[in-house]
Amino acid sequence: MTTLEPAAPAAVPTSLPSIDPRTLVVHAAAEGRTGPLSVPIHQTTGFAFDDADAIAAAMAGPEGDFVYTRRGNPTVRALERAVAALEGGAAAIASASGMGAMSAVLLSLLQPGDHVLAQKCLYGGTYSVLADLGRRYGIETSYLDAEHPGEIAAARRPNSRLLLLETIANPTTRVCDLPALLAAGRAHGLLGVVDNSLASPLLCRPIEHGADVVVHSSTKYLAGHSDVLGGVAVFADRELHRAVWTRAVELGATPDPFAAWLTIRGLQTLAVRMRAHGENAALLAGRLAAHPAVAAVHWPGLPQHPDRAVADRLLDGYGGMLSFDLAGGREAGRRFIGAVRLARLALSIGGVETLVTHPASTSHRELGDEQLGAAGIGPGTVRLSVGIEDAEDLWRDLGQALSDLV
Ligand SMILES: Cc1ncc(COP(=O)(O)O)c(C=O)c1O
Repeated sequence: MTTLEPAAPAAVPTSLPSIDPRTLVVHAAAEGRTGPLSVPIHQTTGFAFDDADAIAAAMAGPEGDFVYTRRGNPTVRALERAVAALEGGAAAIASASGMGAMSAVLLSLLQPGDHVLAQKCLYGGTYSVLADLGRRYGIETSYLDAEHPGEIAAARRPNSRLLLLETIANPTTRVCDLPALLAAGRAHGLLGVVDNSLASPLLCRPIEHGADVVVHSSTKYLAGHSDVLGGVAVFADRELHRAVWTRAVELGATPDPFAAWLTIRGLQTLAVRMRAHGENAALLAGRLAAHPAVAAVHWPGLPQHPDRAVADRLLDGYGGMLSFDLAGGREAGRRFIGAVRLARLALSIGGVETLVTHPASTSHRELGDEQLGAAGIGPGTVRLSVGIEDAEDLWRDLGQALSDLV
């Protein structure tokens, strides 16, 4: 019988007193001290048994033996074990995308008539799911300024069930004061769910700060190579894991074993990539801030960032995503993204290559300046997912694209 492995990874000797996350990313998915170095890809839809009773026993729940890949698969389980260990959770559920993980969590933990508290600046896809839950099931959401934990008491209703936060918001780069917000939510009986995609467990482990569930778009930094979609939800306790697992199996947003394997492979270099993303972002943020075509730079490591003190308390690094506001507004943004030669114009985040986007002329082009402002975006805001290339090459590229704008 396969039991659900404890979050402690099998390949790391338990005799070591403490394991740094940079070590854990390398070893956490391995099955044990002996056997294959690379996690095998179990590219199968199902598993054969000797008799009906054995199949029935295996189907008892997440602790059962592997039966059918939608319910569990050894390669997918290795990814779940690794991310649970990195986040300090009891167990995890991997999904086919970040939205698959977020939808499974919200649809499992919320009932018709429940109320949600969420921070104002949320990933657009999550915002759409919440809007849909409101229309279809009467699950209303109140949006809060994440900077003010006191708002939770004021916005809370008797039917409030869940508090939804993002460690680092996209594209504003505002950093949530997770300990204060999650403690305030807990005091009112709310489950704390945190999207940690932009920080990754290398920068922040929300369960240490009181979160009940951590959600990742592993499409981003965890996998890190812009070649695989995925999501993972990590649970602080096994009861919550079981509740969501049951629904996730029904929803069927299960990853393919090969996708899970690609994510495991990416995860092993997360620490070196996060360091390179962060170092490059620091150099670019500083130089952008001094450039005459740039009105403001948003990156939590800058001394003038409004959440720098929170970031210093909460994060082990400031991340690889930054945004900046071009003084020339919408037209300058459109010209800038047309002028970059090395950074590539694409919507995702967290890959090894530097990506640039101008929301006002791409993903948010239908919105007027006022609506953009409500989403925390200016007409000249450019978002940069800083890659791991040579920082001076990146700066030369950005510099030449900016030179036309002054
Ligand atoms: C913060 C955040 N959460 C969730 C998602 C959704 O992830 P996926 O595209 O893997 O479904 C994204 C995607 O951009 C994101 O930026």
